Parts: sequence; C-alpha cells; structure tokens
Amino acid sequence: MGAVVLGTGSCLPGKVLTNHDLEKIIDTSDEWIRSRTGISTRRISGKGEETYKLAETAARRALVASQVSADEIDLIIVATMSSHMIMPSCACFVQNELGAANAFAYDINAACSGFLFALDSGEKYLCAERDKKILLIGAETLSSRTDWKDRNTCILFGDGAGAVVMEYRDDNCGVVASNLFSDGSLWKLLYMHNAPSYNPDLEQPDNPGAHILMEGREVFKYAVKAMEGAIRELLDRQNIELSAIDLMIPHQANIRILNKLVSRLGIDQEKVFINVQKYGNTSAASIPIALDEANREGRLKRDNLLLICSFGGGFTWGASLLRW
Ligand code: ACO
Repeated sequence: MGAVVLGTGSCLPGKVLTNHDLEKIIDTSDEWIRSRTGISTRRISGKGEETYKLAETAARRALVASQVSADEIDLIIVATMSSHMIMPSCACFVQNELGAANAFAYDINAACSGFLFALDSGEKYLCAERDKKILLIGAETLSSRTDWKDRNTCILFGDGAGAVVMEYRDDNCGVVASNLFSDGSLWKLLYMHNAPSYNPDLEQPDNPGAHILMEGREVFKYAVKAMEGAIRELLDRQNIELSAIDLMIPHQANIRILNKLVSRLGIDQEKVFINVQKYGNTSAASIPIALDEANREGRLKRDNLLLICSFGGGFTWGASLLRW
C-alpha cells in the first residue's frame, strides 16, 4: 500500500528538570504547572547533547531496530526549529555523524507539526522512488530557545529526539493518508525571532532574541479546534470510523489541550498515548518520541490503525493515519 515504518528510536538528554527546580528560578509552583499543563518533569540538554547529537542517537536506535545500515539510507529529513546552526542543516550534521554517505539531507521547519509534515514529504518521496529507504527525525533543544525568565513559556518545553526508518512496501500497511494545514495569518500568536539583522534596513526593533513568544490562551483555543477538524475530515474522507482507531498519538503539547481534544472527539482515553508528564512539550520531537515509546511498550501490533495529530507555530496543524 505504501510507506511503512521499519523501526523507531528516540533519545532524551540525561538531565531531568522538575517543577520544584523551576520554583527556584521563577515565580511558579509545582501545583500550578501540573494543574495547568500536566507536566511534572522535562529533559534538558547538557554539553554534547546538541540537537544533532540527540537526533543522531535516536536515528542510530531506529536503524538498529530496523536492521538497516546507515549507508542504505537515501534521504534524511530532520524536523526542527532549534538546530545549533542555521546552515548547514541539522540533517547534514546527522548525515555526517552517521556516515550515511548515500543520503541527501535537509531540514523541515513546521514548528511542533514538523514531524507530521516530514512524514508526508517522506511518504510522497517513497511512493515515487519505491526502492529507497529514508530516515525521518524530529529533534529539538528548545531549552536553548526559551526565555528562562518568562514563566508563561519556560515551564512548557523540553529537549529530545525521535526517529523512524521507512521504506515502500507493496502490502497492506503504511501511511494511509494525511491532512495538513497552515494559516500564516495567525503567526503572532506563537513565534520565535531569528538572530538580529546585520542590515540596518532589515532590523526589527522589537527583536528580543531567538526565543519563543506565545499567547497561551489563544493557542489553546485554536489547537483543540484545528486538530479536531483535521482528524474528522481525514476520517470522513477515508470512510473510517473513529472507533476503528487502535492508538492515537497526539503532539504532546499539554494535558489540558489533549483532554479537551479527546473529549470533543469522543475517543476512548485508553487508546490515547500520553507522555507529556515526563518530557513536557518537545515540539517536533514529541510525536516520534511517543511513537518509539508506544512501539517499545508493545502498544502497536501489525495491522493496527494509528492516528497521529499535531498543532504548532505558523499556525501549522494536521493529522495522519498509518496502518502499522
Ligand atoms: N506559574 C504561575 N503562574 C503563572 C505561570 C506560571 N508558570 N504562568 C502564568 N501564570 C499566571 C499568569 O501570570 C496569570 O496571572 P494573572 O491572572 O495574575 O495575570 C495566571 O497565571 C493565568 O494565566 P493564563 O495565561 O491565563 O493561564 P492559563 O490558564 O491560560 O494557562 C497555559 C497558561 C498553560 C500556557 C495555557 O494557556 C496553555 O496551555 N496554552 C497552550 C499553549 C501551548 O501549549 N503552547 C505550546 C506551543 S504550541 C503547541 O505545542 C500546541
């Protein structure tokens, strides 16, 4: 049928930052963070745990799980908005670290929806080039893009990476369909500046540096409605009932968004994979990390129908269906 996942991998940095640790640096409390977001801990990169290093380790684990060697990979896509350099891409660093000499490599930035968008691009590549193998990675170190004095945002995010190896198979499994959206008119509700301009004519006087700025309540409202709409439309088009879904892996933004989405959809809570309490919001990495955990926990069996969905800056959002 199409592009199938051969294996998954993930990598989380060693350092755990608890809500109690945050109480010592900003005016907040464990109770406030847990009740508003469901997050208890998040992982924060230390030295040697740059985005591409987390991505490399996640990729190595996915390659081992897939029994595929690095030189068999034809394409590497990394979804990220927090690479340690703008150029070369994070994907080129990963290609070099892996020694994946036969692969071409590039990054995708669709904020928290990056992995979903990369999955769509990867699937279309594999359907056109049926003898190829690809590596899709979501990797972030948002700790390097967070204003640690802004309690509205710094409590939400964490670092990590997840990866999948995929190839085309002429059988019943693989990506069934995706339904992706963007609305650039809403960018001001969630955004991050670049480095300051060296061209005075292009200076942005209000550029406070490359960190996340957000209207939390607005993001919340749009996120729930947008993901619900994308999922319903996708299922309708495929003539699939929600009850046919075996597992749903949403972008792990925060527990209140997820609870609201689950109750509006009416999907059985047991079928929804949630790990936001441990890792916070790891942006483009959250879905492939969750996918790897779900896979290793045996939550995905052959022929299971998997629904993934996401929402992020842009705004960007969407949903995909995969037959495992
Ligand atoms: N600790 C204690 N108090 C805080 C904190 C904090 N960390 N942050 C904000 N507050 C205060 C505010 O200052 C405000 O105080 P005031 O009433 O005296 O002004 C009060 O708490 C309420 O603030 P709100 O922003 O209205 O709080 P809300 O209930 O909306 O929760 C939150 C904020 C958690 C950010 C929520 O809006 C949310 O979940 N939004 C979604 C944002 C999100 O997930 N973004 C991730 C990126 S996009 C994505 O991945 C989908």
